[in-house]
Amino acid sequence: MKVLQVGAEIYPLIKTGGLADVLGALPQALCQQGADLRLLLPGLPGIIDAVLHAKRVCQIGPVFGAASVTLLRAQMPYSHVPAYVIDAPFLYRRGGGPYQDRHGAEWADNLQRFGLLGWVAAQLAQGRLDPDWHAEVVHAHDWHAALSCAYLHAHPAGEASSVFTVHNLAFQGLFPQGDWALLGLSSRYMSPSALEFHGQLSFMKAGLKFADRITTVSPTYAREVATAEFGMGLEGVIRGRGADVSGILNGIDTRVWDPASDSALSQRYSASQPQGKALCKAALQKQFGLLAEPDAPLLGLVSRLTSQKGLDLVLSVLPEIIRMGGQLVVQGTGEAALEAAFRIAADAHPGRVGVLLGYDETGAHRLIAGADMILVPSRFEPCGLTQMYGLRYGTVPIVRRVGGLADTVHDVGQGDSAGAPGNGFVFDTAQPEALRDAITRAFGQYRQPQAWAQLMQRGMAENLSWDLPALQYMALYERLGSERLEMKRRDVD
Ligand code: ADP
Ligand code: GLC
Repeated sequence: MKVLQVGAEIYPLIKTGGLADVLGALPQALCQQGADLRLLLPGLPGIIDAVLHAKRVCQIGPVFGAASVTLLRAQMPYSHVPAYVIDAPFLYRRGGGPYQDRHGAEWADNLQRFGLLGWVAAQLAQGRLDPDWHAEVVHAHDWHAALSCAYLHAHPAGEASSVFTVHNLAFQGLFPQGDWALLGLSSRYMSPSALEFHGQLSFMKAGLKFADRITTVSPTYAREVATAEFGMGLEGVIRGRGADVSGILNGIDTRVWDPASDSALSQRYSASQPQGKALCKAALQKQFGLLAEPDAPLLGLVSRLTSQKGLDLVLSVLPEIIRMGGQLVVQGTGEAALEAAFRIAADAHPGRVGVLLGYDETGAHRLIAGADMILVPSRFEPCGLTQMYGLRYGTVPIVRRVGGLADTVHDVGQGDSAGAPGNGFVFDTAQPEALRDAITRAFGQYRQPQAWAQLMQRGMAENLSWDLPALQYMALYERLGSERLEMKRRDVD
């Protein structure tokens, strides 16, 4: 099966969140399942300067305002997954982030930058750019790649079907309606039944309307996005796709996230030799200037600091966490108000609350290894990866029952739907009292060392790898392939 994976960020080269982790790991798992897979990535400096053995495939352009666009074929460093990279210096070679400049403002030409990504994906899939390869399935991730589905729909020559994965409906890729002509799509694509969304042009809608299949990153989120509470105004569009929408739960890269081999840790450990975790905790307490109390329950949080993540709840219950003898370590960046609130919290509780406002991959590993519990109290969470990293590191998750958190964490008091015992603590309402109750129960369990050790062991024994999700994606691609063949056969008849 020839599969083109299209996305804007990829671990370890460029990462703003979990999307990069997925694009770093899923393609490798699909290759292991036998897919003839290639990535398509924008030539951002972090990507183009890092890929190996880059060779020119063809020259394109001028397109999307860029005079010179070259398609390169290369290999990803570390994984050696084959990748196409779009070298368009005018659009991609600049400092700042993939979507925003250094000051957090969206790049003014994001329409062109990600329009190009989608357009190249469709051209490549249809065999128009590389004489040696075309795709049977284009798998587009989030709004950045979503236009590929509209371009494939507009010029359906060739074999390619499309899958669009929604990682987060909160980021939709909205642009002024007047700019649609820049996309080179006919005017019928600007109607409310296509890309138009309340007077704007929506890249997200291109994926939702025109992909052959839509997936979200957890089964629960797939159900949630069809409701007004979680659908961000797109619930009607999503409901309209009926059974074309499904959820495939993310996995994690169990080689990158493995406490037994993690070079970021001062001490490695495993389910059978868990002693090193106590040393990781002591190191974390030291790093953040917390009191060296081995028995104080240490809560950890690694997150974008945005309203999605429910962090105001954590701030509300902080005094009670301290009163119950707990400690808290936070690592994150994001909204100025949340950053300031956590800074103030750290100043107010020296020795008990540590805060690092920044992005640090190694630090995230150390934090997740050193904490006893990982907090993920999100208001919505398409999948969430840190609770799974927590499970793998014996760091018990405390989460809200929402999205992928509901699919991966089962309360110790309830167990999972198959009757297996729980692996964490789950609360329902986005209210401080509900979070406080979950933390109180977790601290109670923590003070029963045997029960706690069993709880940690259960999480560490779980299979969270990409093996199963990769099989599920392969099955989806195969189904699409057979449908296309069937359609062709019918056309011939
Ligand atoms: P989201 O994609 O919504 O941000 P996920 O839980 O899916 O949430 O993924 C977040 C990813 O980003 C995880 O790999 C997490 O470790 C990482 N991360 C978030 N904030 C930071 C930070 N400040 N420093 C390092 N890694 C971070
Ligand atoms: C998004 C979501 C997160 C998910 C990640 C990877 O950023 O917010 O819940 O885990 O994508 O799919």
